[in-house]
Amino acid sequence: MTRPNLVRRKYHERLVLDIMEKSDAREDFRADVELGLSSSPKSIPPKYFYDEQGSRLFEQITRLEAYYPTRTEASILSDHGLEVIDAMGEAVTIVELGSGSSTKTRLLLDILAHRQQRVDYIPIDISPTVVTRFGEQLLADYPMLHIRGLICDYHQALDALKEEPGQRRLFLFLGSSLGNYHPHQATELLQEVRAAMADHDRLLLGLDLKKDPEVLHLAYNDPEGVTAAFNLNLLERINRELEGRFELERFAHKALYNLEEGRIEMYLESMMHQLIPIKAMERSFTFRQGETIHTENSYKFDRQRLENILGQCDLKIERQFLDHRQWFSVNLIAPL
Ligand code: AVJ
Repeated sequence: MTRPNLVRRKYHERLVLDIMEKSDAREDFRADVELGLSSSPKSIPPKYFYDEQGSRLFEQITRLEAYYPTRTEASILSDHGLEVIDAMGEAVTIVELGSGSSTKTRLLLDILAHRQQRVDYIPIDISPTVVTRFGEQLLADYPMLHIRGLICDYHQALDALKEEPGQRRLFLFLGSSLGNYHPHQATELLQEVRAAMADHDRLLLGLDLKKDPEVLHLAYNDPEGVTAAFNLNLLERINRELEGRFELERFAHKALYNLEEGRIEMYLESMMHQLIPIKAMERSFTFRQGETIHTENSYKFDRQRLENILGQCDLKIERQFLDHRQWFSVNLIAPL
Protein backbone atom coordinates (compact mmCIF):
# COMPACT_ATOMS: atom_id res chain seq x y z
CA MET A 1 0.00 0.00 0.00
CA THR A 2 1.92 3.00 -1.20
CA ARG A 3 -0.03 6.20 -1.47
CA PRO A 4 1.15 9.79 -1.64
CA ASN A 5 -1.01 10.88 1.29
CA LEU A 6 -0.07 7.95 3.50
CA VAL A 7 2.00 8.35 6.67
CA ARG A 8 3.22 5.22 8.45
CA ARG A 9 3.94 5.55 12.15
CA LYS A 10 5.44 2.79 14.23
CA TYR A 11 4.41 2.93 17.89
CA HIS A 12 5.71 -0.44 18.96
CA GLU A 13 7.38 -3.49 17.40
CA ARG A 14 3.88 -4.87 16.86
CA LEU A 15 1.82 -1.72 16.36
CA VAL A 16 1.93 0.28 13.16
CA LEU A 17 -0.54 2.95 12.07
CA ASP A 18 -1.15 3.83 8.44
CA ILE A 19 -2.58 7.31 8.57
CA MET A 20 -4.30 8.62 5.48
CA GLU A 21 -4.18 12.36 5.40
CA LYS A 22 -7.63 13.70 6.03
CA SER A 23 -8.34 16.97 4.26
CA ASP A 24 -9.47 18.89 7.34
CA ALA A 25 -11.66 17.26 9.96
CA ARG A 26 -12.81 20.49 11.59
CA GLU A 27 -13.80 21.98 8.25
CA ASP A 28 -15.79 18.84 7.37
CA PHE A 29 -17.63 19.13 10.69
CA ARG A 30 -18.28 22.84 10.14
CA ALA A 31 -19.60 22.32 6.61
CA ASP A 32 -21.83 19.35 7.53
CA VAL A 33 -23.32 21.14 10.55
CA GLU A 34 -23.95 24.28 8.53
CA LEU A 35 -25.65 22.31 5.77
CA GLY A 36 -27.67 20.23 8.26
CA LEU A 37 -28.92 23.20 10.26
CA SER A 38 -29.84 25.12 7.10
CA SER A 39 -31.94 22.22 5.84
CA SER A 40 -35.57 21.61 6.57
CA PRO A 41 -36.02 19.39 8.49
CA LYS A 42 -32.72 19.97 10.32
CA SER A 43 -30.28 17.08 10.71
CA ILE A 44 -26.68 16.28 11.70
CA PRO A 45 -24.94 13.01 10.68
CA PRO A 46 -24.49 10.52 13.57
CA LYS A 47 -20.77 10.03 12.87
CA TYR A 48 -20.17 13.33 14.69
CA PHE A 49 -21.33 11.83 18.01
CA TYR A 50 -17.94 10.24 18.52
CA ASP A 51 -15.53 12.86 19.79
CA GLU A 52 -13.64 12.01 23.03
CA GLN A 53 -16.59 12.82 25.23
CA GLY A 54 -19.10 11.11 22.92
CA SER A 55 -17.01 7.94 22.68
CA ARG A 56 -16.83 7.83 26.46
CA LEU A 57 -20.61 8.24 26.71
CA PHE A 58 -21.14 5.52 24.12
CA GLU A 59 -18.97 3.11 26.14
CA GLN A 60 -21.23 3.95 29.10
CA ILE A 61 -24.34 3.24 26.99
CA THR A 62 -23.03 -0.23 26.15
CA ARG A 63 -23.01 -1.07 29.87
CA LEU A 64 -26.56 0.16 30.59
CA GLU A 65 -29.16 -2.35 31.76
CA ALA A 66 -31.61 -1.10 29.10
CA TYR A 67 -29.09 -1.18 26.23
CA TYR A 68 -29.13 -4.90 25.40
CA PRO A 69 -27.34 -4.94 21.97
CA THR A 70 -23.71 -4.96 23.13
CA ARG A 71 -24.02 -7.65 25.74
CA THR A 72 -26.33 -9.74 23.55
CA GLU A 73 -23.89 -9.66 20.66
CA ALA A 74 -21.04 -10.51 23.04
CA SER A 75 -22.97 -13.53 24.32
CA ILE A 76 -23.51 -14.74 20.75
CA LEU A 77 -19.80 -14.37 20.03
CA SER A 78 -18.79 -16.26 23.14
CA ASP A 79 -21.28 -19.05 22.36
CA HIS A 80 -20.48 -19.32 18.65
CA GLY A 81 -17.06 -17.75 18.10
CA LEU A 82 -15.48 -21.18 17.80
CA GLU A 83 -17.88 -22.14 15.00
CA VAL A 84 -17.07 -18.92 13.18
CA ILE A 85 -13.33 -19.53 13.37
CA ASP A 86 -13.78 -23.22 12.47
CA ALA A 87 -15.77 -22.23 9.40
CA MET A 88 -12.81 -20.17 8.25
CA GLY A 89 -10.50 -23.19 8.37
CA GLU A 90 -6.98 -21.91 7.88
CA ALA A 91 -5.16 -19.07 9.62
CA VAL A 92 -7.00 -15.77 9.49
CA THR A 93 -6.29 -12.08 9.59
CA ILE A 94 -8.92 -9.96 11.33
CA VAL A 95 -10.02 -6.69 9.68
CA GLU A 96 -12.42 -4.61 11.75
CA LEU A 97 -14.56 -1.68 10.62
CA GLY A 98 -14.94 0.77 13.51
CA SER A 99 -12.92 -1.03 16.15
CA GLY A 100 -13.62 1.19 19.18
CA SER A 101 -12.45 -0.51 22.35
CA SER A 102 -12.24 -3.94 20.62
CA THR A 103 -14.00 -5.60 23.57
CA LYS A 104 -15.94 -8.04 21.40
CA THR A 105 -12.94 -8.60 19.14
CA ARG A 106 -11.16 -10.08 22.16
CA LEU A 107 -13.64 -12.95 22.17
CA LEU A 108 -12.33 -13.98 18.75
CA LEU A 109 -8.70 -13.23 19.58
CA ASP A 110 -9.00 -15.55 22.60
CA ILE A 111 -9.81 -18.37 20.19
CA LEU A 112 -7.17 -17.45 17.60
CA ALA A 113 -4.50 -17.16 20.30
CA HIS A 114 -4.67 -20.94 20.76
CA ARG A 115 -4.50 -21.74 17.08
CA GLN A 116 -2.07 -19.36 15.46
CA GLN A 117 1.56 -18.47 16.16
CA ARG A 118 0.82 -15.02 14.89
CA VAL A 119 -2.44 -13.13 14.50
CA ASP A 120 -2.69 -10.03 12.34
CA TYR A 121 -5.32 -7.51 13.29
CA ILE A 122 -6.22 -4.53 11.10
CA PRO A 123 -8.56 -2.12 12.91
CA ILE A 124 -10.06 0.67 10.82
CA ASP A 125 -10.89 3.81 12.75
CA ILE A 126 -10.74 7.55 12.13
CA SER A 127 -9.18 8.19 15.54
CA PRO A 128 -5.43 7.44 15.92
CA THR A 129 -5.69 7.94 19.69
CA VAL A 130 -8.40 5.30 20.00
CA VAL A 131 -6.39 2.77 18.00
CA THR A 132 -3.13 3.38 19.89
CA ARG A 133 -4.77 3.39 23.33
CA PHE A 134 -6.74 0.17 22.81
CA GLY A 135 -4.03 -1.29 20.58
CA GLU A 136 -1.44 -1.10 23.35
CA GLN A 137 -3.83 -2.81 25.77
CA LEU A 138 -4.39 -5.60 23.24
CA LEU A 139 -0.65 -6.09 22.68
CA ALA A 140 -0.12 -6.48 26.41
CA ASP A 141 -2.75 -9.22 26.57
CA TYR A 142 -1.97 -11.03 23.30
CA PRO A 143 1.75 -11.68 22.73
CA MET A 144 1.14 -13.23 19.28
CA LEU A 145 -0.76 -10.16 18.04
CA HIS A 146 0.46 -7.76 15.35
CA ILE A 147 -1.65 -4.65 14.71
CA ARG A 148 -1.76 -2.47 11.64
CA GLY A 149 -4.28 0.29 12.22
CA LEU A 150 -5.81 2.05 9.24
CA ILE A 151 -6.61 5.61 10.26
CA CYS A 152 -9.11 6.79 7.68
CA ASP A 153 -12.75 6.42 6.69
CA TYR A 154 -14.19 3.04 5.64
CA HIS A 155 -14.21 4.07 2.00
CA GLN A 156 -10.45 4.76 1.91
CA ALA A 157 -9.66 1.68 3.99
CA LEU A 158 -11.68 -0.73 1.86
CA ASP A 159 -10.09 0.70 -1.24
CA ALA A 160 -6.62 0.21 0.25
CA LEU A 161 -7.45 -3.38 1.28
CA LYS A 162 -8.46 -4.40 -2.24
CA GLU A 163 -5.24 -5.48 -3.79
CA GLU A 164 -3.73 -7.14 -0.76
CA PRO A 165 -3.35 -10.86 -1.33
CA GLY A 166 -2.39 -13.22 1.45
CA GLN A 167 -4.11 -14.85 4.39
CA ARG A 168 -7.79 -15.47 4.58
CA ARG A 169 -9.42 -12.42 6.12
CA LEU A 170 -12.39 -12.14 8.42
CA PHE A 171 -13.95 -8.69 8.14
CA LEU A 172 -15.79 -7.66 11.30
CA PHE A 173 -18.61 -5.13 11.23
CA LEU A 174 -20.17 -5.49 14.65
CA GLY A 175 -22.49 -3.64 17.01
CA SER A 176 -25.21 -3.07 14.39
CA SER A 177 -23.24 -0.09 13.11
CA LEU A 178 -24.68 -0.84 9.67
CA GLY A 179 -28.02 0.23 11.17
CA ASN A 180 -26.94 3.87 11.03
CA TYR A 181 -27.14 3.79 7.22
CA HIS A 182 -30.23 4.13 5.04
CA PRO A 183 -30.80 0.78 3.27
CA HIS A 184 -29.44 2.07 -0.05
CA GLN A 185 -26.32 3.50 1.65
CA ALA A 186 -25.92 0.25 3.58
CA THR A 187 -26.01 -1.53 0.22
CA GLU A 188 -23.31 0.74 -1.17
CA LEU A 189 -21.08 0.19 1.84
CA LEU A 190 -21.43 -3.60 1.69
CA GLN A 191 -20.70 -3.46 -2.04
CA GLU A 192 -17.41 -1.79 -1.12
CA VAL A 193 -16.72 -4.47 1.47
CA ARG A 194 -17.48 -7.10 -1.17
CA ALA A 195 -15.10 -5.44 -3.61
CA ALA A 196 -12.33 -5.61 -1.01
CA MET A 197 -12.99 -9.33 -0.32
CA ALA A 198 -11.32 -12.25 -2.05
CA ASP A 199 -13.51 -15.35 -2.56
CA HIS A 200 -12.08 -17.02 0.55
CA ASP A 201 -12.68 -13.99 2.79
CA ARG A 202 -15.72 -13.67 5.04
CA LEU A 203 -17.68 -10.88 6.68
CA LEU A 204 -19.01 -11.19 10.23
CA LEU A 205 -21.90 -8.74 10.48
CA GLY A 206 -23.65 -8.01 13.79
CA LEU A 207 -27.20 -6.68 13.43
CA ASP A 208 -29.86 -5.67 15.91
CA LEU A 209 -33.21 -7.31 15.16
CA LYS A 210 -36.80 -6.07 15.08
CA LYS A 211 -38.54 -6.80 18.36
CA ASP A 212 -41.10 -5.55 20.90
CA PRO A 213 -41.17 -1.74 20.39
CA GLU A 214 -41.14 -1.22 24.17
CA VAL A 215 -37.81 -2.99 24.50
CA LEU A 216 -36.41 -0.87 21.67
CA HIS A 217 -37.83 2.33 23.11
CA LEU A 218 -36.26 1.72 26.52
CA ALA A 219 -32.84 0.96 24.99
CA TYR A 220 -32.75 4.52 23.59
CA ASN A 221 -34.53 6.18 26.53
CA ASP A 222 -32.58 4.80 29.46
CA PRO A 223 -33.72 6.02 32.89
CA GLU A 224 -30.11 6.99 33.74
CA GLY A 225 -30.18 9.56 30.93
CA VAL A 226 -26.88 8.49 29.35
CA THR A 227 -28.36 8.30 25.84
CA ALA A 228 -29.79 11.80 26.35
CA ALA A 229 -26.32 13.04 27.36
CA PHE A 230 -24.81 11.26 24.33
CA ASN A 231 -27.31 12.97 22.00
CA LEU A 232 -26.92 16.41 23.64
CA ASN A 233 -23.12 16.12 23.45
CA LEU A 234 -23.49 16.91 19.76
CA LEU A 235 -24.56 20.44 20.72
CA GLU A 236 -21.71 20.69 23.24
CA ARG A 237 -19.32 19.62 20.51
CA ILE A 238 -20.60 22.43 18.27
CA ASN A 239 -20.10 24.83 21.19
CA ARG A 240 -16.55 23.53 21.80
CA GLU A 241 -15.28 23.21 18.26
CA LEU A 242 -17.29 25.77 16.33
CA GLU A 243 -17.91 28.34 19.04
CA GLY A 244 -21.65 27.71 19.10
CA ARG A 245 -23.93 29.18 21.74
CA PHE A 246 -26.31 26.29 22.39
CA GLU A 247 -27.79 26.17 25.89
CA LEU A 248 -28.32 22.50 26.56
CA GLU A 249 -31.25 22.99 28.98
CA ARG A 250 -33.20 24.43 26.07
CA PHE A 251 -33.08 21.18 24.10
CA ALA A 252 -34.50 17.76 24.89
CA HIS A 253 -33.45 14.28 23.85
CA LYS A 254 -36.12 12.45 21.88
CA ALA A 255 -35.95 8.84 20.63
CA LEU A 256 -38.84 6.92 19.10
CA TYR A 257 -39.38 3.66 17.25
CA ASN A 258 -40.79 4.15 13.76
CA LEU A 259 -42.62 0.88 13.20
CA GLU A 260 -43.28 1.45 9.47
CA GLU A 261 -39.61 2.10 8.73
CA GLY A 262 -38.34 -0.40 11.30
CA ARG A 263 -35.92 2.04 12.84
CA ILE A 264 -35.18 4.05 15.96
CA GLU A 265 -35.05 7.77 15.23
CA MET A 266 -33.22 10.18 17.51
CA TYR A 267 -33.80 13.91 17.66
CA LEU A 268 -32.86 16.99 19.64
CA GLU A 269 -35.97 19.06 20.22
CA SER A 270 -35.96 22.80 20.83
CA MET A 271 -37.99 23.60 23.95
CA MET A 272 -38.71 27.17 22.83
CA HIS A 273 -38.34 29.60 19.99
CA GLN A 274 -34.64 30.57 19.97
CA LEU A 275 -31.81 31.98 17.88
CA ILE A 276 -28.43 30.22 18.15
CA PRO A 277 -25.25 31.95 16.93
CA ILE A 278 -22.38 29.78 15.70
CA LYS A 279 -19.27 31.89 15.45
CA ALA A 280 -17.29 29.61 13.12
CA MET A 281 -20.07 30.17 10.55
CA GLU A 282 -20.56 33.83 11.30
CA ARG A 283 -24.29 33.29 11.40
CA SER A 284 -27.22 32.22 13.57
CA PHE A 285 -29.89 29.57 13.24
CA THR A 286 -33.53 29.94 14.22
CA PHE A 287 -35.35 27.16 16.05
CA ARG A 288 -39.12 27.13 16.41
CA GLN A 289 -40.58 25.75 19.62
CA GLY A 290 -40.80 21.96 19.10
CA GLU A 291 -38.52 22.02 16.04
CA THR A 292 -36.12 19.07 15.90
CA ILE A 293 -32.65 18.19 14.67
CA HIS A 294 -32.64 14.61 13.38
CA THR A 295 -29.39 13.11 14.75
CA GLU A 296 -29.63 9.37 14.13
CA ASN A 297 -31.44 6.47 12.54
CA SER A 298 -30.81 3.01 13.91
CA TYR A 299 -32.35 0.44 11.58
CA LYS A 300 -33.55 -2.84 13.02
CA PHE A 301 -33.28 -5.91 10.82
CA ASP A 302 -35.14 -9.05 9.95
CA ARG A 303 -33.97 -11.78 7.57
CA GLN A 304 -35.79 -10.12 4.65
CA ARG A 305 -34.17 -6.72 5.15
CA LEU A 306 -30.71 -8.30 5.31
CA GLU A 307 -31.30 -10.51 2.27
CA ASN A 308 -32.58 -7.56 0.24
CA ILE A 309 -29.31 -5.77 0.85
CA LEU A 310 -27.04 -8.78 0.35
CA GLY A 311 -28.86 -9.63 -2.89
CA GLN A 312 -27.55 -6.41 -4.38
CA CYS A 313 -23.99 -7.02 -3.16
CA ASP A 314 -23.09 -10.44 -4.52
CA LEU A 315 -23.04 -11.73 -0.95
CA LYS A 316 -24.92 -14.50 0.88
CA ILE A 317 -25.53 -15.57 4.47
CA GLU A 318 -23.44 -18.67 5.19
CA ARG A 319 -24.33 -19.04 8.87
CA GLN A 320 -26.55 -17.03 11.17
CA PHE A 321 -26.19 -17.05 14.96
CA LEU A 322 -28.85 -15.71 17.32
CA ASP A 323 -29.26 -15.33 21.07
CA HIS A 324 -32.02 -17.29 22.83
CA ARG A 325 -34.42 -14.31 22.75
CA GLN A 326 -33.68 -13.69 19.05
CA TRP A 327 -32.89 -10.05 19.76
CA PHE A 328 -29.62 -9.83 17.85
CA SER A 329 -27.96 -11.66 14.97
CA VAL A 330 -24.36 -12.35 14.06
CA ASN A 331 -24.11 -13.27 10.40
CA LEU A 332 -21.24 -15.01 8.67
CA ILE A 333 -21.41 -13.71 5.14
CA ALA A 334 -19.63 -15.05 2.06
CA PRO A 335 -19.15 -13.90 -1.54
CA LEU A 336 -21.61 -15.53 -3.93
C1 AVJ B 1 -23.39 2.33 17.42
C2 AVJ B 1 -25.03 2.96 15.83
C3 AVJ B 1 -25.07 0.78 16.77
O1 AVJ B 1 -27.68 2.60 16.97
O2 AVJ B 1 -27.66 1.52 18.83
C4 AVJ B 1 -26.68 3.94 20.88
C5 AVJ B 1 -25.56 4.08 18.55
N1 AVJ B 1 -27.26 5.57 19.62
N2 AVJ B 1 -27.60 4.67 21.53
C6 AVJ B 1 -27.12 2.24 18.00
C7 AVJ B 1 -26.48 4.51 19.67
C8 AVJ B 1 -27.94 5.66 20.78
C9 AVJ B 1 -25.65 2.62 18.21
N3 AVJ B 1 -24.80 2.21 17.07
